[in-house]
Amino acid sequence: MKSKLVFATGNLGKLNEVKELFADKNVQILSIHDFDGIPEIIENGETFSENAFIKADTIFEITGLPTIADDSGLVVFQLNGEPGIYSARYAGENCTYEDNNRKIIAALSNFDKPHLAKFVSCAVYVDKLHRIECIGELEGELISEFRGSNGFGYDPIFVPSGSNKTLAEVSLLEKNKESHRAKAFNKLKLELTKKEIL
Ligand code: IMP
Repeated sequence: MKSKLVFATGNLGKLNEVKELFADKNVQILSIHDFDGIPEIIENGETFSENAFIKADTIFEITGLPTIADDSGLVVFQLNGEPGIYSARYAGENCTYEDNNRKIIAALSNFDKPHLAKFVSCAVYVDKLHRIECIGELEGELISEFRGSNGFGYDPIFVPSGSNKTLAEVSLLEKNKESHRAKAFNKLKLELTKKEIL
């Protein structure tokens, strides 16, 4: 029988990526959509790591099932690291991905190219006995127009180093070969395998 792992996210973009990354493991990935009455989680940590553990601890407490979470975001060097941990709500509460992308493009219009940036993902695992954390990063450049319709978030304006396509112009499988989230969760999978948890 497959074991169950809850991914503490409601973000379908992240969920699809992580389900694919764990496809070779005998594990069923659930998300908060599989449970009723999950409260809104207040991500009031000061780092990706703190926020990832806030999500995982909350969902582990509610479900009692081993839980993974990821806190991730875009770090833009010319913007002193913004939006960082505030990536989801950069253009304000309830903003769309498009609002966020437009705000970044506007903020960068005062700076010379290239607009260097990186995505960061902190992936964590929590159960009664373990607390594990792994980081993954993806470096690249931001462009000033939207290209592609795959993925989510800042994907349409982010071109990884060494590529000429945005992350929204590649397939999920392609993105999962090199993305910050793929790196973080592949490291986490390795740790879970080494510790015989998965
Ligand atoms: P979180 O759900 O609090 O981790 O917020 C992550 C936010 O960072 C997302 O809403 C996106 O705006 C951005 N982000 C994180 N990972 C990605 C990615 O793989 N592609 C595009 N945007 C991302």
